[in-house]
Amino acid sequence: MISALSRFILIICVAFIVSFIVLANWGNEWGIAAGIFILSIPLIYSYINLARLGRYIQNDSLENMPLPSGLWEEIFFRLQRLIKNLKQRMGQIEQQHDHFIEAFQASPNGIVMLDENDQIEWCNSIAEHFFGLIFKRDAMQRINFLIRRPEFIHYLNRRHFDEPLLIERMGPDSSLSLMMQAFPFGQNRHLLLIQNVTDLQKADAMRRDFVANVSHEMRTPITVLMGFLETVQSLELAKEQRDQYFEMMMSQAQRMKSLVEDLLTLANLEANTQPAVTNVVKSETLMALLRNDAEALSKGKHQFSFEIDSTQSILGDEREILSAFSNLVSNAIRYTPDGGKINVKWSVNHQGQGEFAVSDTGPGIASEHLSRLTERFYRVDRSRSRDTGGTGLGLAIVKHIASRHQAQLMIESTPGKGSTFMLRIPRERLGN
Ligand SMILES: Nc1ncnc2c1ncn2[C@@H]1O[C@H](COP(=O)(O)OP(=O)(O)OP(=O)(O)O)[C@@H](O)[C@H]1O
Ligand SMILES: [Mg+2]
Repeated sequence: MISALSRFILIICVAFIVSFIVLANWGNEWGIAAGIFILSIPLIYSYINLARLGRYIQNDSLENMPLPSGLWEEIFFRLQRLIKNLKQRMGQIEQQHDHFIEAFQASPNGIVMLDENDQIEWCNSIAEHFFGLIFKRDAMQRINFLIRRPEFIHYLNRRHFDEPLLIERMGPDSSLSLMMQAFPFGQNRHLLLIQNVTDLQKADAMRRDFVANVSHEMRTPITVLMGFLETVQSLELAKEQRDQYFEMMMSQAQRMKSLVEDLLTLANLEANTQPAVTNVVKSETLMALLRNDAEALSKGKHQFSFEIDSTQSILGDEREILSAFSNLVSNAIRYTPDGGKINVKWSVNHQGQGEFAVSDTGPGIASEHLSRLTERFYRVDRSRSRDTGGTGLGLAIVKHIASRHQAQLMIESTPGKGSTFMLRIPRERLGN
C-alpha cells in the first residue's frame, strides 16, 4: 500500500510534469491551469468523501457506509471499527444498567438515589408508591420539597444517618408505617432505603394490646377472689353466708379457667398451620349435641328451632367444628333476652356449599362493630358481655377454626331485630 506521503509526492510530480509539458506546448497560462487542475483532483475527491461521511453520520449509519478506495479507505475503515466497538460497548453498558434497574425494581423495599443536593436521581416504583412520587415528573427535584413531613426534613437536615427513621401514616391512604435510612455512597450522594413495617407495627401493637387485655381480664376475677378470701379469713361468717361466698369465688375461678382455656385453644389453633383433618362429622349428630347443650344453657328461657335440610356430613376436625358451632349457638343464647327465638339450621346451597346458620331475635349489632367482632377480646358492649361471662374470644376462635376448614364466617345483623351468624363450608369439605 502506498503511504500518504508517497501519494502526496506522486501527485506533486504528476502536476509538475503535466504543467511543464502543457506550458512548453501551449504557453504559461495553460501550464499553470493544468497544474492547478491536477492538484485539485485529490481535493475534489476528498470533498466528495467528506460529504458522504457527513451524510452517513447524520443518519447514524456510518458502519454501513461502503468504503472508498485510496487514502480514505483506511481512515473510514478505522472510523467504522471504532464506532462499531463503541456501540457494542454501549449496548453492554445499557444491558448492565437495565439489569441493575430490574434488580432494584424487584426489591420489596423503596429505593431512592439522592445527589449531593438531595435531588432525586432515581427511585424505584415501590418508593413512588410509598411517597406518591412519579419519577418521570419528579426526577432532579429536591426530596424535601416532595416529602413534607417535618420529622423527615429534620432527619435529612441533621445529616446523622446512623439510626433509621420511622414515619407513620404514610402512603396513598396514610395507612403505612415506613422505616427509612439514608446510606452515603459516591461523592456526597445518598441511597435512601425504605421498608414497609406496617404489619410489624400492627403485630407489635396487637401483642401489647393482647398482654394488656389478658392482664385486665385476669385482674378483675383475681381481685374479687382475693376480696372474698380476705372476708372469709377475717370474719366469723355463718355457714350459709360462707357457702354463698364460696359459690361466688367458684364462679370467679371458673371465669379465669374458661379464659385460660380459650387462650390455650386460640394459641393451639394459631400454632397449627396445617389444614384441619378430614374426618367425617355427621350433621345429625352435631345438631343433636348442639340442641342438648343449647337447651341446658338456655334453661327454657328461649324458643328454639333446629332445621336439618341436608344429610351431608362435614369433612373436618369434629372437636373444632363442634366448638365453632356451639360458640355461635351459645352467643345467640347469651345475647338474646329471655323469650327470644333462636333458629339453628344446617343446609347445602345451590353451589353445593354447606351452610350452618344461627339466627336470633336478640339486640342485633350496629354495622360499625361487625368487621371487628372476630378480633380477640372485642366486645360490643363490654359491661353486658362481662355480665354474661364473655371475654370476647369466642368469635376469634370461630374464625380460626373456619379458616382451618377453608370456611367463611358471615355476619348479618340489624340493631333491634336480631343477628344471623353463618359458617359457609366449601363443597370440598362436605361428605355424603
Ligand atoms: N348473637 C349475638 N347477638 C348480639 N351480639 C353478639 C352476638 N354474638 C356476638 N355478639 C357480640 O360480639 C361480641 C364478641 O363475641 P365473642 O363470642 O367473640 O365474645 P364473648 O361472647 O363476649 O366472649 P366469649 O365467647 O369469649 O365467652 C360479644 O361480646 C357481643 O357483644
Ligand atoms: Mg361468645
